[in-house]
Amino acid sequence: MGLTDSLQSPVIAAPLAGGVGTPELVAAVAAAGGLGFLPGGYLTPEALTEQIATVHRLSVRPFGVNLFLPGPRRDEGVAQYRERLEASGFEPGEPIHDDDHYPGKLELLLADPVPIVSFTFGCPDAETVAALHGVGSEVAVTVSSPDEARVATAVGADVLVVQGMEAGAHRGVHSDDPAHPQGGETFGLVALLRLVASVTDRPLIAAGGIMDGAGIAAVLSAGAVAAQLGTAFLRCPEAGTTPAHRAALAAAKAETVITRAFTGRPARGIRNPFLDEHSSAAPAAYPQLHHMTKPIRALGDPDSMSLWAGQAYPLGRQLPVGELVAVLLDEARAAAANTASRLGVGRSTLGRPMARQWAG
Ligand SMILES: Cc1cc2nc3c(=O)[nH]c(=O)nc-3n(C[C@H](O)[C@H](O)[C@H](O)COP(=O)(O)O)c2cc1C
Repeated sequence: MGLTDSLQSPVIAAPLAGGVGTPELVAAVAAAGGLGFLPGGYLTPEALTEQIATVHRLSVRPFGVNLFLPGPRRDEGVAQYRERLEASGFEPGEPIHDDDHYPGKLELLLADPVPIVSFTFGCPDAETVAALHGVGSEVAVTVSSPDEARVATAVGADVLVVQGMEAGAHRGVHSDDPAHPQGGETFGLVALLRLVASVTDRPLIAAGGIMDGAGIAAVLSAGAVAAQLGTAFLRCPEAGTTPAHRAALAAAKAETVITRAFTGRPARGIRNPFLDEHSSAAPAAYPQLHHMTKPIRALGDPDSMSLWAGQAYPLGRQLPVGELVAVLLDEARAAAANTASRLGVGRSTLGRPMARQWAG
């Protein structure tokens, strides 16, 4: 049985890149019996080493690290987008294309292993998966379609993170299709869980729009071994969420949409003037757009920064991690008991009055 299959609390804190998912958050989820992922994305290997050391100082429990897989370079439309931002009065950063220090971070995780490594934005090759297995790490791969699930299964992933289109921030699509505004076909979480379960024998972690215990119970009923929540943890004091982002989450005034406007990769955030203005013009050029909009986002203006959030973000609560996980588990147990009762679990079918009435 794998790590995610045997959690005391089937609650996973998603890796939250960009300074949001802190070592404190990861340690607090572990203390509550769940599992937390440190976000390796955007970090240098040195910074990731430091963050891993901090988690070790705060906790003796298992945790994971998440990495972004680098994708192919696409420059089409980048110069025009830069001109467009300048014409709107912004001072964009340089449109750098980089590999997010992926080789260095992988090397670090092979030299100083953690219990589980998860990947997004692609699928590692079988050699990489075997190397991680060789140092005792489990491997999780984020999938957003049944085809991606087949590929992840074939390379030997131990567990699949099934990400529905409801999810906050970046879609994990392995290959961003420039012709598709959402980067590829979008599947709702329950449909995707059931489709993926039909093409793989690996345990599934469900992610996307899960904000309360009823959502957790629902995905466990749909075949997942655990639920991975991102947005639900954004308002916890342990998270590094900025004040402007917290305020937008608490206000819950606008819907969420998927946009390439901030990074060049499709990602879900709360609607604001920047994405309304620029989404239709944003090319599929990650990470150049990420680097270009970085100084704009750093200004902290809610009208022009990314306000990443999943579709169900209005259900978010402002609670410390330990309390939030306890509430989520209580709610999940109540929802599961209600489901069991509606389905007559534990009731003899023969003894049911309806059954007798219609038996003829
Ligand atoms: C602010 C933020 C940052 C995220 N960063 C990452 C990341 O670094 N790596 C990753 O695999 N997923 C990341 N995600 C996506 C989550 O893994 C997960 O799919 C998503 O949060 C689930 O949907 P929910 O936000 O509605 O719970 C991020 C999500 C948010 C909200």
